[in-house]
Amino acid sequence: MAPIIEIHNMIKTYPGVRAVDGVSLSIEQGICFGLLGPNGAGKTTLIEIVEGILKPDAGETLYKGTPVGARFRKEAGIQFQVTSLQEFLTVRETLRLFKNLYPRTMDILEVIRLCSLDEFLDRDTRKLSGGQRQRLLMALALINDPEVLFLDEPTTGLDPQARRNFWDLISLVRSKGKTIVLTTHYMDEAYALCDEIAIMDRGKIVSQGTPEQLLKEHFGDVVLQFPDEDVEGKLDKLSLCVSKQPGWCEIQTHDVDGTIRLLLDRGVSLSRMNVRSWSLEDLFIALTGKDLRS
Ligand SMILES: Nc1ncnc2c1ncn2[C@@H]1O[C@H](COP(=O)(O)OP(=O)(O)O)[C@@H](O)[C@H]1O
Ligand SMILES: [Mg+2]
Repeated sequence: MAPIIEIHNMIKTYPGVRAVDGVSLSIEQGICFGLLGPNGAGKTTLIEIVEGILKPDAGETLYKGTPVGARFRKEAGIQFQVTSLQEFLTVRETLRLFKNLYPRTMDILEVIRLCSLDEFLDRDTRKLSGGQRQRLLMALALINDPEVLFLDEPTTGLDPQARRNFWDLISLVRSKGKTIVLTTHYMDEAYALCDEIAIMDRGKIVSQGTPEQLLKEHFGDVVLQFPDEDVEGKLDKLSLCVSKQPGWCEIQTHDVDGTIRLLLDRGVSLSRMNVRSWSLEDLFIALTGKDLRS
């Protein structure tokens, strides 16, 4: 399918920091695209440029093949990382207010049902829980029945249950054929929701692909884990790819059978061995040298 959004050579510099440093990306229609990276990576700056809120120093964004303009503004829905809502209004009144801003909108009752707002429709927006607030913000982003939806860290700070609920909502919205551009610093979230992921660090895209492609491209298939005391002094001079975790030794290998034979030869006990596959978290550390949450 043709890309709905193409970003070419985007650059944005603030005093002392190149927030976006030559990013090119293409986002297919109808997918959930994840922009993943730690705080300060440049995610918000990049998507706010695409949304037309920030002006880049250089670069261009195309929407359906032409430079972003009126059509994009009509067909895009935006949920900002930080949004202040009009005070003293209830959820219902806020929805009405936003509905009146657009010439063409989704049916309000449908938005309310989709985002499960029924239970707190008459509540003051200042009294919503984190999860309820995010659902309202999603509803506001959907109100103009957009084709492409931008969600900037929508689940940051939510408790695990509210996060899961919000994931369900994102999946539901995606199943209606909308393209979703999601920024997050949660690996599990990107893995659960995104068809394609771009990993961003210090203003650059350091890797891009489906979650499976990214893992395959960067890692051997399997990691064998042993408690330190089980392998102590037994791996010398073996050509294995070994890394250390606190209390554990990890061996990365394509050839599980061969590696296990070698280890048995050296007298390593397998009784406490764990086998695990790589996660996106590992990938992120391998690519950037840092933990996502650091
Ligand atoms: N308005 C601004 N003025 C100066 N520096 C900024 C501004 N906005 C963002 N930055 C800097 O640009 C970098 C990227 O920020 P941001 O796009 O918010 O990252 P992310 O959304 O990935 O956390 C950070 O170093 C941040 O401090
Ligand atoms: Mg941000």
